[in-house]
Amino acid sequence: MNAPKPDRTGELTFDGRSIAFREGQTIGAALAAAGVSAWRTTRVTGEPRGLFCGIGVCYDCILTVDGARARRACVTPARDGQVVRSDDPHEALPMAGGHGG
Ligand code: FES
Repeated sequence: MNAPKPDRTGELTFDGRSIAFREGQTIGAALAAAGVSAWRTTRVTGEPRGLFCGIGVCYDCILTVDGARARRACVTPARDGQVVRSDDPHEALPMAGGHGG
């Protein structure tokens, strides 16, 4: 496995905003470095959520990556050109194995 090259950078788009990152960072790390601390709200009380555990366990950090819902920002590598958007807790998730209808 090749080690990340810390000098290489990329850029993703988060809710229409350009976010620069260093190779090897997760989306969550890139957002935090850019000052974004929350990107979804809880379904019932509307409390803001972002990184919490940082290790892929709590699912507080889910967002949409290139159209794929419920991706964990803390464990999803940032890639150049990704389109990331905050999560809408009221938008239905597609059924596993279904056709997304
Ligand atoms: S911060 Fe807990 S799963 Fe990402």
